[in-house]
Amino acid sequence: MSDTTLSTLSARRVWDSRGNPTVEVEATLADGSTGRAMAPAGASRGTREAIDLRDGGSRLGGMDVRNAVGNVNRLIARELRGMDASRQADIDSRLIELDATPYKSSLGGNAIVATSMAVMHAAASSAGKPLWRYIADFTGQTPTLPLPEIQIFGGGAHAGRRVDVQDFMIMVPGASSFDEVLEVTSEVYRAAGARMKAKGGNLGVADEGGWWPVFDSNEEALETLTRAIEDTGEKPGERVVISLDIAASEFGSQGRYRLALEDRELDREQMIELLGRWIDDYPIASIEDPLAEDDPEGVIDFTRQYGHRIQIIGDDYLVTNADLVHQAADQGACNAVLVKVNQSGTVTESLACLAAARDHGYRGIVSARSGETEDVTICHLAVGLDAGQLKVGSITRSERMAKWNECLRIGEQLGDNAYVMGKPLANTWWARQQEENAR
Ligand code: PGA
Ligand code: ZN
Repeated sequence: MSDTTLSTLSARRVWDSRGNPTVEVEATLADGSTGRAMAPAGASRGTREAIDLRDGGSRLGGMDVRNAVGNVNRLIARELRGMDASRQADIDSRLIELDATPYKSSLGGNAIVATSMAVMHAAASSAGKPLWRYIADFTGQTPTLPLPEIQIFGGGAHAGRRVDVQDFMIMVPGASSFDEVLEVTSEVYRAAGARMKAKGGNLGVADEGGWWPVFDSNEEALETLTRAIEDTGEKPGERVVISLDIAASEFGSQGRYRLALEDRELDREQMIELLGRWIDDYPIASIEDPLAEDDPEGVIDFTRQYGHRIQIIGDDYLVTNADLVHQAADQGACNAVLVKVNQSGTVTESLACLAAARDHGYRGIVSARSGETEDVTICHLAVGLDAGQLKVGSITRSERMAKWNECLRIGEQLGDNAYVMGKPLANTWWARQQEENAR
């Protein structure tokens, strides 16, 4: 007999892909079902996202999580005991109430997100369903495999700021299966590596597994990526397109943008002009955080000029917050939202953000963090919520591959209709070009 009463919660300290401590939580239900989840950690964080509780001091760079682990083992475990794990919204409300700060800084976003996800895993296990199916059933969505965005070159805060732009990625909307996306991406990654090697110097990778960016300008990275796509025999803009995360809050504020690599400072208009030129010259289908989080004027203006051509994603700008998505829709800022569970802090708040996105016709991109673990919960969320897209970094490093490989497994369970080609890029220039070609 299934009994989803939460009987125990326990946390331990584990280690993430940057060698930093993080929180893992295990939930056990009265019927013996268990669930487990780990908190990821960002490096280029939005100012309005949930805050991880770190111990501070000199040990481990101040990054230890003993207090966050203690908060789960003592307070959270005691307070959630006896609650119904299948009532995710109640669990998450209780967590929010216990924390009682705007950004979850008292119990810790890391303690809270790992608990929220672990409870969901346990409830799915009690229901005898794979997590993606459990999520699809309780949200009423039709599960689909997401279209991946995969990093080829790292940058920004993930690569010692060696280039200003944070992610140079590709999407393969023209692929007919998830497996084909990975194969095409692997070829492009190889070709990009060969180009970096040919330039001389050492090949290395950044935090999310993309090649270490040894370039003289941001545009050189864009150019190299385009050439690497061609090296594989693809015509850029057909099956394969480019996606950028500018992460502009990392080098811009108050409408001023300092491109350190090129030693120049741009104002808001010049920054928009630069991005516009890139959109004209390269097969770019998506740009994330084009302007800084404190520059709504810039984001709105950029969306007005380019929102009909490309996908414009708010990450630091929207921090997985439903209210901010509603506000952005009112103002005409962005047309897509990145969904990071640990940015909101709970599963329920992330679902609310995606629901808000749906209300306004905004696209959703479920995303990992730059500090990750082998945890694959977000794959199940992307599938079960029919989010449409998934961003987890590059096609190397096992904290990334764990997620792409999990999607392959889920795809087998889903069957033939699992993957919807290109649909997430509807209404972009890429989709219009496909329609024209089909005529
Ligand atoms: P972060 O970056 O996890 O370091 O915040 C990821 C992103 O900006 O998309
Ligand atoms: Zn981002």
